[in-house]
Amino acid sequence: MENFFSVSDVEDVQELLKKAMEVKKNPLVNKTLGKHKTLGLIFYNSSLRTRISSQKAAFNLGMDVITLNIGSDGWQLESKDGAIMDQGTAEHIKEAAAVISTYVDVLGIRCFAGLEDREADYNEEVLQNFIKHATVPIVNLESSTLHPLQSLADLVTIETHKKKDRPKVVLTWAPHPRALPQAVSNSFTEWMKKADVELVITNPEGYDLAPKFTEGVTVEHDQKKAFEGADFVYAKNWSSYDSYGQILSTDPSWTIDADKMAVTNNAKFMHCLPVRRNVVVADEVIDSENSVVIEQAGNRVVSIQTVLQEFLKIRWRILRTLKIL
Ligand code: CP
Repeated sequence: MENFFSVSDVEDVQELLKKAMEVKKNPLVNKTLGKHKTLGLIFYNSSLRTRISSQKAAFNLGMDVITLNIGSDGWQLESKDGAIMDQGTAEHIKEAAAVISTYVDVLGIRCFAGLEDREADYNEEVLQNFIKHATVPIVNLESSTLHPLQSLADLVTIETHKKKDRPKVVLTWAPHPRALPQAVSNSFTEWMKKADVELVITNPEGYDLAPKFTEGVTVEHDQKKAFEGADFVYAKNWSSYDSYGQILSTDPSWTIDADKMAVTNNAKFMHCLPVRRNVVVADEVIDSENSVVIEQAGNRVVSIQTVLQEFLKIRWRILRTLKIL
């Protein structure tokens, strides 16, 4: 694994899941693996879970952490090749990525979608430029279209709670007052397609995710029908892909409530958080004993620690081969 940008970077998802379950069981087993190594974290956008879980995972491995908030702490970075930089951006990612690579051993980056230009967002200009110009592994902390660390944590949560070999997992759209990216839902879909689950996506007309993600997946526009027999219900809002970035509906009949959960197979309720209570999900569901959202967020430490370990072990093996260690 050279970078952790999407599920495609993972050779064997089941093998990575096995390693993650080991990390969950014994988080301090590799507490010196990252000694004298540094994790860099760059945030273009806000975060609670990603920021703190990344730091905690690094500490569990004995790593140091340096965080930069673009916008408040750093120069505005240019991502376009050939840009004439006479406007707001002061430094190009070409230099920034190369320079930061001399300070850190692994670099995580969060940069959300602008939701105005679909092609630009789906080209993943910022993350791809960092991958191109950095000389250390890049970890996706949520990009325009993907959030793989969340998906690996989701997979660990499902593995922990599943009661059958092939559980039914329903990803459901839910209303929200603001236009949100498709990243969590795209990523969850591509990871579940590699997992041993029956995946069903339910959303209103006009909210189908990009075809490259939904290919081969059942998409059901009747939410209650989709919920029948579900073992896991994963709620998430996303803005329209077809009418890009638009809010086409805030229909409260899509809110997850106890009536809908009643037709499931006593399903566990999942959400990546942060969540708008009584808009996305009713209190009676998120506060129920079937809600696993807090454990799911706790598994964010597990997912990034598993990924960091992979990079540290790869580097350690290279150094051993070169007889530097
Ligand atoms: N789920 C998630 O990524 O949370 P934050 O935005 O708080 O990091």
